Amino acid sequence: MDQGNLYDMRKDYGVRELREEDVNPNPYDQFEEWFKQAVKTEGSEANAFTLSTIGEDGMPEGRVVLLKFYGEDGFTFYTNYNSRKANDIESNPKAAMTFYWRTKEQQVRIKGIVSKVDPIISDEYYKERPLGSRIGAWASPQSQIIPNRSFLEEQYKEFEDKFNSSVEIPRPEYWGGYLIDPTRIEFWQGRSSRLHDRIVYEKDGDIWKTYRLAP
Ligand SMILES: Cc1cc2nc3c(=O)[nH]c(=O)nc-3n(C[C@H](O)[C@H](O)[C@H](O)COP(=O)(O)O)c2cc1C
Repeated sequence: MDQGNLYDMRKDYGVRELREEDVNPNPYDQFEEWFKQAVKTEGSEANAFTLSTIGEDGMPEGRVVLLKFYGEDGFTFYTNYNSRKANDIESNPKAAMTFYWRTKEQQVRIKGIVSKVDPIISDEYYKERPLGSRIGAWASPQSQIIPNRSFLEEQYKEFEDKFNSSVEIPRPEYWGGYLIDPTRIEFWQGRSSRLHDRIVYEKDGDIWKTYRLAP
């Protein structure tokens, strides 16, 4: 296999630094500060993160999903409650989130306890989604084996016809949000010569304690 110049593919970071005296004592405020900057520079998918879960077989698995809300309660994403990730969460309600913001040379790692969001909140968000996404939630048995692409397109057409005259498309009861209540949040800033900055917030009762890790 010709792997090109894989051995030489690397970048020396150094756009900015992360000092203890600069981080906000509240990790949510710190997240917001970085996230808002990332939205400006990364474009529309600064909210994309890798969600890692543990399966019933004890094996980890990651996939990208979109952050749809954050606040002092935690971080919310939306998905199909019958999906593989949802099955993982049902058997082990612990998950990790990893954001990588290339333009800022930043990584944020969050781990925490997962729960379903209130159905009323899922309803509110579902209503705001584009029509195609709302129908798509009905049409796709996410993570299930399907015979072919046409199956999906036929399902979509069926639900499109079904909801054609509806004033409001109801949210499928198997689709909604999950909230990750963090116990640990790490902010990573790329620095020169691999001497990166890593500041961790860890929950100790109601208090967030912070410390620095070696890169
Ligand atoms: C940029 C991007 C954003 C995505 N956002 C979501 C999302 O918000 N929710 C979701 O269920 N899947 C999303 N997906 C698809 C997931 O990565 C994954 O394929 C799907 O959720 C099925 O995963 P599972 O079988 O492990 O449950 C996204 C994929 C990409 C690449």
